[in-house]
Amino acid sequence: MCGIVGYIGDEEAVELLLNGLEKLEYRGYDSAGVAIYDGKELKVSKTKGRLKALRHMLGNGEKMNGTVGIGHTRWATHGKPSDENSHPHTSASRKFAVVHNGIIGNYLSIKELLTNLGKEFSSETDTEVIAQLLEHYDNGNTLETVIRVLKDLEGSYAIGIINKDNPHEIVAARKDNPLIVGVGKDENFIASDVNAIVSRTKDIMRLEDGEIAVIKSNKVVVYDMDKNIIKKNIQRVNWDISAAGKNNYSHFMLKEIMEQPKAVHDTLFPRLKKGEIVLEDDINLSKEYLEKINKIFIVGCGSAYHAGCVGKYIFEKLLKKPVEVDIASEFRYRNPIVDENSLVIAISQSGETADTLAAIRRSKQLGARVLSIVNVVGSSIAVESDDVFYTWAGPEIAVATTKAYSAQLVAIYLLSIYAANKLEKISRIAYTRYVDELFFLPKKMQKVLNLTDKIRKFSEKKYLLESVFFMGRNLDYAVSMEGSLKFKEISYVHAEAYAAGELKHGTISLIENGTLVVAVATQRSVTDKMANNIEEVKARGAQILGISTDSCLDLRKICDFSFSVPDTHDILQPSLSIIPLQLFSYFVAMLRGCDIDKPRNLAKSVTIE
Ligand code: AGP
Ligand code: GLU
Repeated sequence: MCGIVGYIGDEEAVELLLNGLEKLEYRGYDSAGVAIYDGKELKVSKTKGRLKALRHMLGNGEKMNGTVGIGHTRWATHGKPSDENSHPHTSASRKFAVVHNGIIGNYLSIKELLTNLGKEFSSETDTEVIAQLLEHYDNGNTLETVIRVLKDLEGSYAIGIINKDNPHEIVAARKDNPLIVGVGKDENFIASDVNAIVSRTKDIMRLEDGEIAVIKSNKVVVYDMDKNIIKKNIQRVNWDISAAGKNNYSHFMLKEIMEQPKAVHDTLFPRLKKGEIVLEDDINLSKEYLEKINKIFIVGCGSAYHAGCVGKYIFEKLLKKPVEVDIASEFRYRNPIVDENSLVIAISQSGETADTLAAIRRSKQLGARVLSIVNVVGSSIAVESDDVFYTWAGPEIAVATTKAYSAQLVAIYLLSIYAANKLEKISRIAYTRYVDELFFLPKKMQKVLNLTDKIRKFSEKKYLLESVFFMGRNLDYAVSMEGSLKFKEISYVHAEAYAAGELKHGTISLIENGTLVVAVATQRSVTDKMANNIEEVKARGAQILGISTDSCLDLRKICDFSFSVPDTHDILQPSLSIIPLQLFSYFVAMLRGCDIDKPRNLAKSVTIE
C-alpha cells in the first residue's frame, strides 16, 4: 500500500522524488503527489492517476524548486482516488505537509473534534487529520509536535512530515508500516522500501515502531516517544540495482517468471551441502524442539497462503503432525488453539503484510514460536519472528508474485524434509532421494520455461474467454488455487479453483459448452480420479487444458490441450506445474491489454488490514 519518498540535501528534490516514486509505484498507484519547500513556502503538486500524470503536471510549468521534499503514491483506503484526496496533505495554514502509508483508525473522532474547533478539511481521507493535528498541537518544535500528535493516533502509519517554519529537516515515524532512512553523503532520504533510493545510497536505517527520525541533510537522529535518542545501526543493503530493473523484458512479471530457476537455485543451494540440508544456525529446529511440537499452523495471504496450502500436504505427509493452514486475516480474528507446543509458520514475500504481521503477534501472545519465510531482509515480519528462513528470490517488482512464490515452495520443501529427517520420520534413503531431486529442480524448471512459446500460442486461442476453472487434487488443488489467483488478478477474467472431487457438489452446474477447465494432475496417487473428473466435465461440454507430467501420457490423451512437465518427486511437482499457469495468465493478460505489472486496485505489499 502506497509508496513514500523524502529527500533532503543540496540537489533539486523534485526529480529525485519522482524517480524514487517510480520505483515504488508497484506498491500503490491510484494517485501521486509531491511537496517541496521552495525557500518561502511548501509547494504541493498532486493528482489522481499514475505517476506519469504528476510528471505531466510538473512538466507543464508547475515549477517546484527546492532541495527538501516528500512524495507519495497512493493506494486509497479512505476517500476515492481524486486530486484532493491525493497526498501530500497540508494543514489549514499550509504550515505542515504530510505523506502517510496506513490507516488512522480513529480519524473520524479526531476530524469531528477539529471541525468543532473550526478546522476546515479539504479531503475525505483519514490522513488529513495528521496534518491538521500537527497545526493544532504546534509548539514550534517539530519533533515535540509530532510526538504529541502520534499519541492521539490509533491505527497504522508510516509518515513523512515537513514544517515550512523549520524546513531544514524531515521528520518521519512509523507504526506497523515500513519506513527506512537512506543515509547518503550530505543528503538523506526516507522511503517505504530500499528500491526507491538504492540508486543513491545502499546505507539504510530501518525505523521500528515508536521511533521518530529527525532527518537533516548531514545528520539523522532517531528518538523514542519520550524524546530519548536511540542508537540505530546502519545496514548496507546487498541489492544490485540491475536486479530491480526490467532488463529488456516487456514486463517485470515475465522477467520474474524467467528468473524462477535462479531464485530457486539461490534459495536452495546455500542450504544443500554434501548431500545434507543445512539450515542457518539461528533457525532452531532441533530434534528436542520438534518433538515438543504437537501442531503446526501456517498463515499467509494470497499466494503466500497458497504456498502454505502446499505446505500443509507436505508437512503432514513427512512429519506426521497435524497442520492447519489459515488465511492470516481469518486466523487473527478466530480463536486458534495455539499454545507453546504449536509452531506457527508465517509466509510473506514482502514481510510487511499487515494481516500476516498481526497473525504473528497473536501467535506469540498465545505462546507459540514463530518461524517466518520472508523475501525481504529486515522486514517487519522477519524482525518480529523467532526464526526467519529467508528466500533469496531477489527484488520482486510485479504485483503478481511468481519467483518469490516458487522460492517459498522451496523453503517448505527444505524445512519439511529437514524436520522429517531430524525426527527420523523418513528413512535415510528417502531423505537422500528428496535431496537429490531438489538438486535437479532448477534445471527441471528451466525445461518447463522452454514451453513458453507453446503456451503463448495456446493463449492466443483462449484470451477472449469469459471464465476459467482450475481443478486438482491434493497438492494439485493447492497449485490450482495459485493458478486461479494469477489468472484473475492480472487478466481480470473470472477464475475459480476447485478441488476436483468437489466440482460435482455444485460448481459443475456452471460448466457449459466450451468452458475452459484447467486440470492440474501430477500426483500419482490420484491421477485416475483426476481422469474421472476430467471426463465428468468434458461430458458437460468443457474444454480441458491438462497440466501433467511426462509419465502421465494416458491422462494427457483425454485432454483437449495439455502441457507436460518433467517428472520429479510428487512433493516437488508444484514447482513445475505452476509455471505453465503463470505463463498462461501472463499471455492472456497481455493479449487483453492489461497492465500486467500494476493490475488495477492491487498493490504489491498490503500493509493495511
Ligand atoms: C499474489 O500474486 C498477490 N500479489 C497477493 O496475493 C500476495 O501474495 C499477498 O498480498 C501476500 O503478500 P506477501 O507475500 O508479501 O505477504
Ligand atoms: N489511508 C490513507 C489514504 O487513504 C493512506 C493510504 C495508503 O497507504 O496509500 O489516503
